[in-house]
Amino acid sequence: MSIPRIQIEALDKRFETGDCEVIALQDANLSIAPAEFVTLVGASGCGKSTLLRIVGGLEPASSGTVSVDGKPISGPGIDRAMVFQHYSLYPWLTVTENIKFCRQLKMHRDVSTSADVEAAGGRADALIRLMGLGHVMQAYPNQLSGGMQQRVAIARALMARPRILLMDEPFGALDAQTREVMHDLILHVSILEKTTLLFVTHDVEEAIYLAHRVVLMAPRPGRIEAIYEVPLPDHRDQDMKQTQEFLALKKQILAGIRATSGMQTDHDLLEQLGNAPAH
Ligand SMILES: Nc1ncnc2c1ncn2[C@@H]1O[C@H](COP(=O)(O)OP(=O)(O)OP(=O)(O)O)[C@@H](O)[C@H]1O
Ligand SMILES: [Mg+2]
Repeated sequence: MSIPRIQIEALDKRFETGDCEVIALQDANLSIAPAEFVTLVGASGCGKSTLLRIVGGLEPASSGTVSVDGKPISGPGIDRAMVFQHYSLYPWLTVTENIKFCRQLKMHRDVSTSADVEAAGGRADALIRLMGLGHVMQAYPNQLSGGMQQRVAIARALMARPRILLMDEPFGALDAQTREVMHDLILHVSILEKTTLLFVTHDVEEAIYLAHRVVLMAPRPGRIEAIYEVPLPDHRDQDMKQTQEFLALKKQILAGIRATSGMQTDHDLLEQLGNAPAH
């Protein structure tokens, strides 16, 4: 068997706050193959962001290991790029400068030839065009819509050709139409560049549409509850969302989230709420 791109083994993460201990992750195990697209779903607080941050090297594990291509990670690396819900662009740089910035930093550190610099420039231009940002290349982030800012953040993450892209609710703030465009774009790029994706979302339809496998997590303690194979071909189109398989899987995952969320529609409590006088 080939070496997994990401191997998560017996991962635990505890946070101490005062005399309280939160078990954010308990014995998480997951193997992700090269070029695989895996989405993480689950009730709020089940440890999705924590897991992603540990894989990104931004947070240490309490115990257990994360390996990339067979080597345990010890911090962030150029092989892993992250995109968050709130696009962390540099406000004082233009769109083009934001996209090229990290690459330039790396090139200053490396011994780069002028051919390398030229190739990087070509990649930046291609990404700008692919993301539909050609007309705002010289604009600053505060002059862009949310969807445009997120496309800049994604272009910047892709600039260094990361083997792994880690995304935490990257499209959470976008409207439904822009999200659909972004879904097809990210799928296209991931197939083209054979990027391995670990992607957190609250949206089950998004989770299924994008992924080869959907990982359902559950809270208290944060853990991996179930893993679902998505029965769709690699090349997706929006019509697949209406197929029997898609709808059945969506129903199954939604039921799983509901069963583990700890939130209930308790009729007695709701009645109590309705009867209590408002002050
Ligand atoms: N820095 C921290 N200090 C203390 N507790 C933390 C910290 N970060 C996360 N937690 C706790 O760990 C648990 C998992 O948090 P996490 O942010 O990973 O959840 P999540 O699944 O991403 O939730 P959401 O869907 O709301 O984003 C929660 O109980 C949270 O309160
Ligand atoms: Mg989160």
